[in-house]
Amino acid sequence: MSPDTERGPISLLTPEARSALDRSGYGSWRAIATADAVSLAFGFPYPESLPTARLQESTGAVLDDEGERALQYGGGAYADRLQTWVAKRETDRGIDLTDRDVLLTNGATHAIDSVCRAFLDPGDVVAVEAPTFMGSIRVFENFGVDVVGLPVDDRGLDVDAFADRLERARAAGDPTPTLVYTIPNFQNPTGTTLPEGRRVRLLELADEYDFVVLEDDAYGDLRYEGEPERPLCALDESGRVVRVGSFAKTIAPGVRLGWVVAPDPIRDAVDALAAGGTNTFTRSVVGHYCDAGHFEDAMPELRTAYADRRDAILAALATHMPDEATWTEPDGGFFVWLELGDDVDTDALLEEAIDAGVTFLPGSMFYPNDGGENALRLSFSYAEPDEIDVGIGALAAAIDAHRRG
Ligand SMILES: Cc1ncc(COP(=O)(O)O)c(C=O)c1O
Repeated sequence: MSPDTERGPISLLTPEARSALDRSGYGSWRAIATADAVSLAFGFPYPESLPTARLQESTGAVLDDEGERALQYGGGAYADRLQTWVAKRETDRGIDLTDRDVLLTNGATHAIDSVCRAFLDPGDVVAVEAPTFMGSIRVFENFGVDVVGLPVDDRGLDVDAFADRLERARAAGDPTPTLVYTIPNFQNPTGTTLPEGRRVRLLELADEYDFVVLEDDAYGDLRYEGEPERPLCALDESGRVVRVGSFAKTIAPGVRLGWVVAPDPIRDAVDALAAGGTNTFTRSVVGHYCDAGHFEDAMPELRTAYADRRDAILAALATHMPDEATWTEPDGGFFVWLELGDDVDTDALLEEAIDAGVTFLPGSMFYPNDGGENALRLSFSYAEPDEIDVGIGALAAAIDAHRRG
């Protein structure tokens, strides 16, 4: 029986929910996830990086030390310690804050969703780097806002082009953004990092045009070379930056833990709107893990392993790719963005690549509207370096076959 969309529960869904249902049927998703191929598609940490034994130890310690308290609403001291630990690390990055300015969430995506609840009304404009992380595009779309893409280059968001656009919008009486979402370090999907001059200019524009900057620093800890840039949140003098972080890439995606850093009263508003609060038990376990020094202990090995994978993918691209291909060279994070000739359609190429033995995500998935048809994202985080070389060789063969058609 096909569901009645004119009356009954489906007709009661909001327009945003109906449109989310329409979008959720991305056909290739399952094919990518189940393909018998080298996986360069998802930003998954490589399996051995996941700290099973250490988390087991921390889980035991939390239950031994706190018992029922750790399982009760609110949790115990270990849950609180994580907030202090995150606040200390954020302070070390030059951000001026107290423990209270940190709000723990069930992952960065939950954090972004809660920030959107605090700031967005249907019809508002949200500006994003184009391309950007598709998970965040989906969250913004759920709020019924107009998501617009901003131009990027090999140093991230093109802030001057954005300034021109804002000026034109103001002159024409068009709406300017309520919120600008940026991934300033090792951006997903391009791997680029925004230099300090652009960060400062973006904050000037935020003051001039009165928007909030949502800084998503999911990959900031994973730098393999060069010096860290100062966070937008540390450069902000007007309290306009809301910063989001995650343990997904540095401990494990499954712990579903992230955080928001925002000045009062924004932090309190986001907290009030983050329905259901945070998983206090995983918070306690990760609180113990971080307090015991396991986070810091794991970082050198993680950085080395990811740097090896990054080097492997860059070497393989140089060996196998056709002359007209260009790609980014990230200093950190998980991703390389590959642009091919205009004659390549990466949505169609994906099927041929899976047959050849490799997966990737087509560029169009990372744009709020059109774009990226001849580009694709490669993730070097999951496969082993020698598998990466095999995968890029397979991709080159698929591109060749696709062209010959
Ligand atoms: C830029 C960015 N933000 C957020 C996330 C998701 O973080 P979480 O798993 O903590 O929700 C990802 C994951 O791929 C990401 O790339």
